[in-house]
This record gives sequence, C-alpha cells and structure tokens, in this order.
Amino acid sequence: MKKIILLGPPGAGKGTQADLICEVLDIPKISTGDMLRAAIASQSSLGKKVENILSSGALVSDDVIIELINDRLLADDCAIGYLFDGVPRTLGQAELFDQSNIGIDGVIQIDLPDDVIVERMSGRRFHIESGRSYHINFNPPKQEGVDDVTGEPLIQREDDLPETVLKRLQVYHDQTHPLIDFYTAKANQQNLEYISVDGNQRVDKVFAEIKAIL
Ligand code: AP5
Repeated sequence: MKKIILLGPPGAGKGTQADLICEVLDIPKISTGDMLRAAIASQSSLGKKVENILSSGALVSDDVIIELINDRLLADDCAIGYLFDGVPRTLGQAELFDQSNIGIDGVIQIDLPDDVIVERMSGRRFHIESGRSYHINFNPPKQEGVDDVTGEPLIQREDDLPETVLKRLQVYHDQTHPLIDFYTAKANQQNLEYISVDGNQRVDKVFAEIKAIL
C-alpha cells in the first residue's frame, strides 16, 4: 500500500502517524494543512486569502484544495506513492479526487473521542516549517520548546485555542465524517483497503497497528 489517505478528526494524531508512515514507506506526506500554513507564512496571495479561514476553524473551498493537490502530484517524488494527511475532507473533495483519477490503495482512519481531542490540542506544540507536532506530556520534544530535527522553536497553533478546536470538531462531524461511509462503500466495491485504528493509545502502539497492515 503506497497511495494512502489518512482520515480522522482534528488532533487524532494524523500528522504524527503520517511522519512515521512516510519514513517507513519512503513516500511524501501531502498535508493540505501544512501547505496552507506555508502559504500564510509566506504571505502569498493564496495565504492572504485563506488566513482568516484557518484561524476561524472553517474549511478552505474544494476548488482551491484540488488545485493544490493536482499541482503537488506533478512533482517527481509522487511517482511511486504518497500519503494524504487531512485531505480529502469533504465529499466534494473526494469526488474531485475521483474525477482527477488520483490513485488510492487504502484509507486509514484514526478514531478518537472528542473529549480526548480537546485535551490533546491544548498541549500540542508545532514546528511550522515541517508540520511536526509534539505534545508537552504525551509526545514531548527532546528539549523543551525546540524541534528535534532543526532545533528551531516550536509554536502553539492559533487554531488550537479551545473555542476554535470545538468549531473544527463540529466541521469534522458535519463535513468530513461522511467520508467514512463514502470510502467503506468503495472498499466493498473496488480494490481499496479500508482500515480503522484506535487512536486512543500511545503513539508507538497506534503506529504498530498501522505498520502491521501497511
Ligand atoms: P490540518 O493542519 O490538516 O489540521 P487537522 O486535520 O485539524 O489536524 P491537526 O493537524 O490539528 O491534527 P492531527 O490529526 O494531525 O494531530 P497531531 O498528529 O498533530 O488543517 C488545518 C486547517 O487547514 C483546517 O481547519 C482548514 O481550515 C484547513 N484545511 C486543511 N486541509 C483542508 C482541506 N482538505 N479542505 C479544506 N480546508 C483544509 O496530534 C495532535 C496532538 O496530539 C499533538 O500534540 C501530538 O503530539 C499528540 N498526539 C498524537 N498522537 C498521540 C497519541 N497517540 N497519544 C497522545 N498524544 C498524541
């Protein structure tokens, strides 16, 4: 399995597991969240357009997202495979993936109850350039406040404020959760694997479950 969608609510651990999976499979992580945050950091026209959307916890429009994805897939490093982290996240995006003939071998869904998500988000620390995330208690960096790889400072994401996390969870339940039915139906009809993993365990335990089925 080399063409993978990672599906799950905000804070379920998608980014954390994505880094581990991509290292093992030697495939690129395609995270629309990271791409949008990079656009905001560089103050590009896209960045200016989406800045308020991200800080409010709402979703960027499907047409912007599919354009980002189709451009990204032209890069050489996507020839063998890729892991989509947090995309598609609406039925519209999933249909646009189909229309663009984007190959998918499997969908890995990470499950986590809402109350655990809220707790995790409050302790998250983030390296904006790479998208690496840490948790002050559950997944701390080697040195407090500093990224393990680059030594650069970690930040707290603006959209991790408690009220924005609740809004993002609502958006997830309304707009992304329907993708579970969409892809389980596809798995029954086509050559696509659908796997659900319990995200409410230690990082290494979640990864062991995923690794066993890769
Ligand atoms: P995005 O960046 O994709 O955010 P998200 O999907 O909400 O997911 P997160 O990055 O918040 O969480 P995660 O599941 O990666 O968890 P993590 O591994 O960090 O999107 C941000 C915004 O961009 C969206 O709100 C939207 O506006 C826009 N956007 C992006 N894609 C879009 C799209 N396709 N369409 C439209 N708009 C889009 O883990 C969370 C915390 O828990 C960390 O602190 C971590 O260290 C810790 N942790 C992880 N695993 C464990 C564990 N097993 N046990 C204990 N702690 C753990």
